[in-house]
Amino acid sequence: MTATTELPGQPHIHYSVDQLHVEGLPLSPLACEHGTPLFVYSKAAMLSALDAYHRGFAGRQAQICYAMKANSSLAILQVFAEAGCGFDIVSGGELARVLAAGGDPAKVIFSGVGKTRHEMKQALQVGIACFNVESEAELDVLSEVAKGMGKVAPVSLRVNPNVDPKTHPYISTGLKGNKFGIAHEDTLRAYRHAASLPGLKVVGIDCHIGSQITETTPYLDAMDRVLDLVADIEAAGIPIHHIDFGGGLGINYNGDTPPQADALWAQLLAKLDTRGYGQRQLMIEPGRSLVGNAGVCLTEVLYLKPGEQKNFCIVDAAMNDLPRPAMYQAFHQIVPVKPSAGQDAVYDVVGPVCESGDWIGHDRQLQVKAGDVLAVLSAGAYCMSMASNYNTRGRAAEVLVDGTQAHLIRQRESAFDTFALEQLV
Ligand code: LLP
Repeated sequence: MTATTELPGQPHIHYSVDQLHVEGLPLSPLACEHGTPLFVYSKAAMLSALDAYHRGFAGRQAQICYAMKANSSLAILQVFAEAGCGFDIVSGGELARVLAAGGDPAKVIFSGVGKTRHEMKQALQVGIACFNVESEAELDVLSEVAKGMGKVAPVSLRVNPNVDPKTHPYISTGLKGNKFGIAHEDTLRAYRHAASLPGLKVVGIDCHIGSQITETTPYLDAMDRVLDLVADIEAAGIPIHHIDFGGGLGINYNGDTPPQADALWAQLLAKLDTRGYGQRQLMIEPGRSLVGNAGVCLTEVLYLKPGEQKNFCIVDAAMNDLPRPAMYQAFHQIVPVKPSAGQDAVYDVVGPVCESGDWIGHDRQLQVKAGDVLAVLSAGAYCMSMASNYNTRGRAAEVLVDGTQAHLIRQRESAFDTFALEQLV
C-alpha cells in the first residue's frame, strides 16, 4: 500500500505517491485535461460533513437546509438534494437553481432582508416550506402578495439575538448594529403583527448570528435568547412549530479548531432538552461547514517576479475566482500539487487582475517554478459562488470527484460567454 499524507481537516484530500489527490484522483492530470484555474471538489468530503450533522441529530426531528450561497453549482445542489437536504435560499435565482437541480421546494426556506414581490410570488407558486422574514414591513408585503394569489405564506421571523459570534465583522450578522433580523425587544410585537395578517401563518422562529464561528459559546447564548422568545411568543397564544438555529459553523483554514458538527449539537441539544424544547421540529442552515473543505482551486504559476521587498509568484487564478482574501483578508493554504525543482523562497501569491488587492496569499514559503500547479485549499465555499468576470476573465471550470471518477460539472466560461448578453448601440 502507498503511504498517504492527509491534509489537516481534509480527509479526502491527500498526498499519495508523487502528488496531491482528491479522493482517488491525482490532480495534475485533471489540471492538464481541463486547464486552470480549476475547482475540484470531493463528493465524499461533502457527504461526510453532512454525516456529522446527521449523527448530531440522530433521533431528533431535524431538517438540514444547505445554505446554498456557499456553493450553488447545480451538481453540488444535486448531491445535497439526493442526500435528503432542503435548501436555504436568498433569491429567486437560487430558487431556480434548486428546481433545476431536482431539489424539493417543500424543503426550501427563503432568507434575506430584501425579498422582492416577484421573488415572493415565485416562492409561493412552488410552495416553499417557509419565509424567514426579517422586518415588519416585509410581513405586510408578503401578506398582501400571498392574499393576492389566494394563498397563505408560512413565516418564521428571523430574530437578532445580539450575540457576538467572535468572527470577522463582515460576516457577523446577529449583533445590534447589523441589518439582519428583528431586534430582540421588538420580537413579540412583530409576532403579534404577523399573526394578525390574513395572508400569513406563523410556523417558526429563526436566527443566524454569523459565519466561520469557531466557538460553541455564541451558539449556546443565542439558543438561550431564542428560547426565551419562544416562551414569550407561545405565552401570547402564537404557537411556534419549528426552531431554526441558522448556520455559521466554521472550518479549519489555518489551524482553526471549530467544534465538529456532532459535538456542537450534542451540547446544543442538551440545552434544548434542559429547557424542555428537545422534541421540537428543528432546522439548521449550514453552508461553509458542508462544502468549504471539500474543494480546492488549482492554479498554474505563470511567472516568478523577484523584487526588492517582495517576491511575487504570479498565478492564473485571481480575486475574481477567489475573492475571500481581497474581501476579508481571509487565509487559504496554498500547497504544491507536486514537489518542484523550483526556487525556494517566500512569495506573495498574486493573480493577474489589475488591483493591488488581487492577492491570494501573503508571505508564503514555497518551492516553485513557472508551469507548476498549486492548490489553494478550503476553496469549496464562498469562492465559485462569489466569482465574478472582473477584467473580463471567464469563470473557472469545476470538477466533482466521486471515488476515481471525475465529472466536469461546469465548463470554463469563454470571453464570448462573458459578453453574450451585451449589444452595441
Ligand atoms: N443562513 C443565513 C441566513 C446566512 O446569512 C448564512 C450566511 C448562512 C445561513 C450560512 O452560513 P455558513 O454556515 O456558511 O457560515 N462570504 C463570506 C460568508 C458570508 C456568509 C453569509 N451568510 C465568506 O466568504 O466568509
